[in-house]
Amino acid sequence: MTRVMVVGSGAREHAITRALCNSGAAVSCFASNLNPGIMALADDLELGDLNSPDEVIGYAIRQGAELAVIGPEAPLAAGVADALRVASIPTVGPGRELAQIETSKAFARDLLTRNGIPGCPRYRTFDALEGVADWLAELGDGYVVKYDGLAGGKGVKVADDHLHSHSEALGYCRELVTKDGRFVVEEKLVGEEFSLMSLCDGETLRHMPVVQDHKRALEGDRGPNTGGMGSYSDATHTLSFLEDEDINAACAINEATAAALREECGEPYRGFLYGGFIATANGPRLIEYNARLGDPEALNVLEILQSDFVAICHGMATGTLADCEVEFRPAATVCKYVVPEGYGVKPRRDCTLIINEEQLAASGASLFYAAVNQSPGGTLETTSSRAAAVVGSGAMLAAAEAQCEAGLAAVSGRGLHVRHDIATPQLLERRVAHMRGLRSGREAPAVMAA
Ligand code: AMP
Ligand code: GLY
Repeated sequence: MTRVMVVGSGAREHAITRALCNSGAAVSCFASNLNPGIMALADDLELGDLNSPDEVIGYAIRQGAELAVIGPEAPLAAGVADALRVASIPTVGPGRELAQIETSKAFARDLLTRNGIPGCPRYRTFDALEGVADWLAELGDGYVVKYDGLAGGKGVKVADDHLHSHSEALGYCRELVTKDGRFVVEEKLVGEEFSLMSLCDGETLRHMPVVQDHKRALEGDRGPNTGGMGSYSDATHTLSFLEDEDINAACAINEATAAALREECGEPYRGFLYGGFIATANGPRLIEYNARLGDPEALNVLEILQSDFVAICHGMATGTLADCEVEFRPAATVCKYVVPEGYGVKPRRDCTLIINEEQLAASGASLFYAAVNQSPGGTLETTSSRAAAVVGSGAMLAAAEAQCEAGLAAVSGRGLHVRHDIATPQLLERRVAHMRGLRSGREAPAVMAA
């Protein structure tokens, strides 16, 4: 039995832990919260500083870990994967330099541009206000301002949605300069977003089914951006608003990016490479890269993974992914997050979360705990972040959505919010109509992609 250390303790890591245990692993979890779902599955869970290479290695050695899987991005940015490899522990997760593909938006854009990889919007990088007004004037009404570093999905402000004039945009840029921050100002892309996550061992890539996340906090895609409110994937492993060429082009971009990273950083990228794409009238464009599995997207794809996840992780960590079988069931999945009211702006702090286990089991849905703590008395304490995710699956999206809702009915409490519109027929049809309109030119994109 392989002893695997999981670093991180959100819903994504709960799903990773379940997939590893289903493949026969024994799991030890180095955690930032007392996740009851992971505690029920893992042999051990210890709280510590996930971003301290010394603490993580100390735990890995004490637990006799033979393989490590790093969930979130912050430990990657802190060099935890590099340190684990130095300690001879095969690790799923890129080293610090490679992880810049996520930790610096300018690095990601420049890497693609230098290597002639398609998919970037027009962009420029700044660390002062000089030249920003001219660049905004060139971009016109369609612009996006992005803090260069990690900001938990909250450093991006988009024209119309969050910024309503060039002077507002300049105000945000000034804020970023004062924060001592580099930032990117780029063309706003118009289309439908999708996530393509690829398993990568530095040489071989295996692509997972595409997923659509919902970043906006409120129904109808309104409200602030969040870490992700829910997501779905289809039994076909494509999405109804995409054409096959969109997926093929996105796969080619991930492949070229992994090769460019290896070439430029001089080491193989061993981990998950998550491309956040937007399908436009002119093909897919890259919004951002992440150096890890998406949360919630991981919950969709791991739900339907048929192959041995321990073997896949071992393959990624040791450069032998080409020898692994990677198959996904042809089932649709729908995930909806339960979050504190106000999540994304000013989350409530006094929420309660109660799970009716019998009702949940009867629904057939899976529940993954996120940023909650199990108190000694057994009650669940929420934090200011996402609390739990419910995943339904089925032969068709409608069945998966119904199962997800039946699972959510088993969750009660105070001060909680769910985007029930995710994967409903109305929202799915809106996505398809939006894309159809863009493709036919009836609804001209505000800004033509390069
Ligand atoms: P990011 O943190 O880069 O994923 O950005 C957060 C969200 O901002 C994305 O999911 C998009 O909805 C939006 N966004 C980022 N860049 C662009 C862009 N160039 N055009 C349109 N929307 C964008
Ligand atoms: N689903 C968005 C993220 O994982 O960053």
